[in-house]
Amino acid sequence: MIALIPFVALGLAVALESAEHPSPLEAYGARRFPPQQGKGRLPPLPYAENALEPQISAATVRMHHDELQAGYVRRAHALLEHLNRKTGSDRSELQLWRDLAYQASGARLHQLYWDNLTPGGSRFQQGPLQMAIQQDFGSIGSFLERFNETALAVPGSGWVVLAWVPSLERLVLLAIDQHQRETMPEWVPLLVCDVWEHAYVLDYGSDRAAYMRAFWHLVNWPVVERRFAERGGV
Ligand SMILES: [Fe+2]
Repeated sequence: MIALIPFVALGLAVALESAEHPSPLEAYGARRFPPQQGKGRLPPLPYAENALEPQISAATVRMHHDELQAGYVRRAHALLEHLNRKTGSDRSELQLWRDLAYQASGARLHQLYWDNLTPGGSRFQQGPLQMAIQQDFGSIGSFLERFNETALAVPGSGWVVLAWVPSLERLVLLAIDQHQRETMPEWVPLLVCDVWEHAYVLDYGSDRAAYMRAFWHLVNWPVVERRFAERGGV
């Protein structure tokens, strides 16, 4: 039995179903929050924690993934739960949404980062991504220089991302402050580099340039190319 509950003030009618079958609204929620994300579970690394050595130590990966990323995932999930059930006013509405943007972006960017690294790195291949980089940055060498220059200039808590922006029809470099500031609508992340100090301080101290040299030895270019190939569907 389906009961229609009119929300007069909103001008909406929502179909609710109490039987075993999920209502359209529940099915929509299940799609938005699939189990592996909706339960706040930390996605596993795609390789062993010592697999990125010698460029990135197991100690860095363990701390970075098991503690820091886990915290973002946990807090993002807690915020989603809170927002779904919000009745009180322990935090302002503004602060809740800003906190969610920070925590959820932190959780997601870290997953993109781990996934675009691979033990031993990979070869950059000719193809659509290479042609797009040449078109938008002049050459592969120029792209690498500008990515590095941006990475070295980002303040101590941020990211550098090669992204596709559909409305601009070009690749861009995003110098993200924290996890969520200085982005563009519709941006599609292709290559993500964490330049927060925690990403390299155990292995390189304050020498971010050394970390960047190591980063290029770990990039999983097939993953970057696949993200570019799928950009239209994101
Ligand atoms: Fe990080």
